[in-house]
Amino acid sequence: MTSSTQPLLQPYRMQDVPLANRMVMAPLTRARARNRDLLPSDLHARYYAQRASAGLIISEGVWISRDAVGWHDVPGLFTDEQVARWKQVTDAVHRAGGVIFAQLWHTGSASHPDFFEGRPPLAPSAVNPGLLAPTATGRKPTVEPSAMSAHDIRQTVADFATAARNAMKAGFDGVQLQAGFNYLISQFLNPRTNLRTDVYGGSVENRARFLFEIIEAVGEYVDLRRLGVKAGPAWSETGEFVSGSEALAESEYVLGRLNDYDLSHLLLMGMMTDPAGGPLEDLAGDEMFRHFRKVYQGTIIANVGFDQHRGNTILADDLADLVAYGQAFISNPDLPARFASHAPLTEPRHDLFYGPDAAGYTDYPLQER
Ligand SMILES: Cc1cc2nc3c(=O)[nH]c(=O)nc-3n(C[C@H](O)[C@H](O)[C@H](O)COP(=O)(O)O)c2cc1C
Repeated sequence: MTSSTQPLLQPYRMQDVPLANRMVMAPLTRARARNRDLLPSDLHARYYAQRASAGLIISEGVWISRDAVGWHDVPGLFTDEQVARWKQVTDAVHRAGGVIFAQLWHTGSASHPDFFEGRPPLAPSAVNPGLLAPTATGRKPTVEPSAMSAHDIRQTVADFATAARNAMKAGFDGVQLQAGFNYLISQFLNPRTNLRTDVYGGSVENRARFLFEIIEAVGEYVDLRRLGVKAGPAWSETGEFVSGSEALAESEYVLGRLNDYDLSHLLLMGMMTDPAGGPLEDLAGDEMFRHFRKVYQGTIIANVGFDQHRGNTILADDLADLVAYGQAFISNPDLPARFASHAPLTEPRHDLFYGPDAAGYTDYPLQER
């Protein structure tokens, strides 16, 4: 396929946002905010600007509040100084012709008391999720979190909305909620980590209430056509995040209800583990996208394990509108140009994924000419 015929390299309109191509840089935690105030730096600006030829960049997950923190050296979006520093990052991306959304993140029980002077993190219920938390001094087993009060929930919903407003002030083109994997929104959705007996627990409608309250709260400040959601029926399949027989029907309900809002996109996660023999067995490979194409009517970004060929094929088959690449964008800042010329890809340095400095972050080469 030539570049002019590759679906990945065709332009796209995501609501009112024009994208130069259909390749999305997936959200990638890189742990380079090595300062007490959790500020992004010039290094972040350089890193994202290098990758501005992606049709759309989704930023690394960023903290909506102090309570949300659960990974060392990740930047926030809840202080004026963080907003000012992010403005430098978004300006650099825009100068380079790119489009960038901020991913809003709260880790809930996946965090660790090390981040809160010894206090346990907040979560829907006092259930240890059985994960390892990446603290400043290594990965540590999670603990039993504190169950959120009704006040805590109201505050957290408000924190998501404030962070979304901050993102727009910081010049982001939109925001995305991290509503998948092991994190706070998933902890509400997951019947094994949400044992609440109030309106936020019990039925799937109640467990999804937190997510939809956040969407509505964000909508008070941000045009919902600029809000996307990252989610899917599959979680990490570790600790308490192992899909049960309810997973498919419940995610059909949740992702189907997203149609009630005219959102920017759904970043739909494919399987991250082999589903053979489990309740999501029928969603292996492209079946995830074939299935949920019928459930969610807006823009779908497909993700997990795509290469160039499979990305072009899933778009040609109209099972998704955009394709997100994670690891490939870490080590190939000019990924669209490489796909255009079918150039070989640089392999990422796994040992440098999470810090500490420019090595393995901003020093990957452009393709040789
Ligand atoms: C180093 C690294 C950091 C990641 N950080 C995030 C993150 O902050 N938020 C998120 O939603 N997903 C995160 N992910 C998951 C990626 O967005 C993506 O879903 C995953 O890498 C699969 O895509 P790929 O197969 O193209 O790499 C991360 C993945 C990697 C490898």
